[in-house]
Amino acid sequence: MKKFIRAIFALLLIISFSSCSSNKAKGEQTEKIIVRVGHNQSQNHPTHLGLLEFEKYVEEKLGDKYDVQVYPSELLGSQTDMVQLTQTGAINFCVASNAILETFDDVYEIFNLPYLFASEKSYHHVMDDKSLTNPIFNATEKSGFVAVTWLDAGSRSFYTKDKPIEKPEDLKGLKIRVQQSPTNVRMMDLLGASASPMGFGEVYTALQSGIIDGAENNEMSLTDNGHGEICKYYSYDMHQMVPDILIANIDFMENLPANERKVFEKGFEILNKKQREEWAKAVKKAKKSAEEMGVKFNYPNPSDFAAVVAPLTEEVLNKNKKLRPVYEKIQVYNKEYPAQGGAK
Ligand code: GCU
Repeated sequence: MKKFIRAIFALLLIISFSSCSSNKAKGEQTEKIIVRVGHNQSQNHPTHLGLLEFEKYVEEKLGDKYDVQVYPSELLGSQTDMVQLTQTGAINFCVASNAILETFDDVYEIFNLPYLFASEKSYHHVMDDKSLTNPIFNATEKSGFVAVTWLDAGSRSFYTKDKPIEKPEDLKGLKIRVQQSPTNVRMMDLLGASASPMGFGEVYTALQSGIIDGAENNEMSLTDNGHGEICKYYSYDMHQMVPDILIANIDFMENLPANERKVFEKGFEILNKKQREEWAKAVKKAKKSAEEMGVKFNYPNPSDFAAVVAPLTEEVLNKNKKLRPVYEKIQVYNKEYPAQGGAK
């Protein structure tokens, strides 16, 4: 029902906005092009703060032509809904987790592999290496969208209601929410848990009503999304570092005159920089606030979990052959920036 109401609301919003807004400055009536950007985080979240900087920059440079509007908190629907709206051009941009993008193009499976990156440094260097990401980011042109930058979403670990996860066996039989991605479902199969794929906005209620026993995400979901009110155990197994991706409608990008495209591209860089700076601060703060909420952090050995899910990497690379060269390139970064110890 909640889903239905949200979908109707999103539809009404989109129908009610024409793609132009009027600008009556200096008594003239000029029409501005509305640029809609949707995401599923709160207005305190680094992603929202980054997008506000993007909005500010684009409007400073091209404000007589464009009105950038940022819609937080799934106002335009779940991430999957928003990707579809971006594909059709009903909205211009949205932030989607790399996890769900693999259902739109399997090239995105690569960044969903567990324990893909040896360290946070390796992860950041890989995502900043345009020779590596550009072919992936442009792979979906035929599906109506391209990726224009990535955003930090930290590392993902399990958090549960009734008991901490000290070792992989502790997950056996538990119902754990994952993002809607076949790679994630398979990862949970290997761990012996039962995967419950659902959109981010549904997790709180599912935890509260006992439909699931836990979930997996970064520390911010405990505080910003209130999951720490229900789950009192956060276990740093750090199974994935899944980036968020800003995607754009392909026609919108291709129809931009060269000088305007440059402004948007600079805007993506500004967003990336601001979001990452804010992320580093926010994630530290979230851990502290979660502790104040009564969440206990524990530190299992990530290698125990990595050993159990290791077959998934070979499965994906054997099935999706184009990913192997990308995987090999990532290993070069992993050698250069090896693990620095856990989350403590
Ligand atoms: C993180 C990520 C979101 C994603 C969410 C989820 O918060 O930043 O993009 O939607 O995890 O688990 O669904």
